[in-house]
Amino acid sequence: MRVDIISIFPEYFAPLDVSLIGKARQRGLLDIRVHQLRDWTHDVHRKVDDTPYGGGPGMVMKPEPWSEAIDAVAGSGSVSGEGPPRLIVPTPSGRPFTQEVALEYAKEPWLLFAPARYEGIDSRVMAEYGSRLRLDEVSIGDYVLAGGEAAVLVMVEAVGRLLPGVLGNAGSVADDSFAPGTMAGLLEGPVYTKPPVWRGHEVPPILLSGNHGAIARWRRDEALRRTVAKRPELAARLDPQSLDKHDREVLDDASFRVPPEDMAN
Ligand code: ADE
Repeated sequence: MRVDIISIFPEYFAPLDVSLIGKARQRGLLDIRVHQLRDWTHDVHRKVDDTPYGGGPGMVMKPEPWSEAIDAVAGSGSVSGEGPPRLIVPTPSGRPFTQEVALEYAKEPWLLFAPARYEGIDSRVMAEYGSRLRLDEVSIGDYVLAGGEAAVLVMVEAVGRLLPGVLGNAGSVADDSFAPGTMAGLLEGPVYTKPPVWRGHEVPPILLSGNHGAIARWRRDEALRRTVAKRPELAARLDPQSLDKHDREVLDDASFRVPPEDMAN
């Protein structure tokens, strides 16, 4: 996958040289190119922002450097003959970035991220590129960052680890909280490693039993309990038809009311 990032802080992306993503780049699985937005300005001050029309606090990013930068990068050769990149603009007013969106992006050959500073990018840029490229305005959560760069780091890591060959153990993607599959919609339960007793805390004996069926059942029970305790709104969205008798007992024990199966749909 090719990933381009246009920012006034290219140095912000140094973490993408490290760990899983850094290795994926070295191995040629991820081609990440970071560009300085100011390279597409034409004044001595390399100005990228100006005061907002209509007044108000802060500054707004000017449309011209962004359009020149996006045109140059998006026009810099397609990936293996496929179309232009998918353009992603991080903003707290965008659609929520979820595991589902990460899976969708992981299928794309080419992503172009345009993280803004200040109060955001002049909206005409989104109007222009929304009609020319596939454009997503995306939020990584209901809080306001000082700029979109940290959001890009989050999204590149979430997408990058899903690419074929990036994770050593392919099974770990399937087990993720929020991944589709048997544990769909559930938070992952607790994990343990050696030693079997640490500071008086024992590893749950079932995990040492070698009984894989019982272990899978226990993990599902823990996932159900944790989801009810920490994310009741996720528990409420569980498909009643995906819950067996034992699931219902666990949920009942956690004082969580699921609708009866015949209420589904
Ligand atoms: N820029 C500022 N806050 C953001 C957020 N929550 N998500 C994405 N981009 C942002």
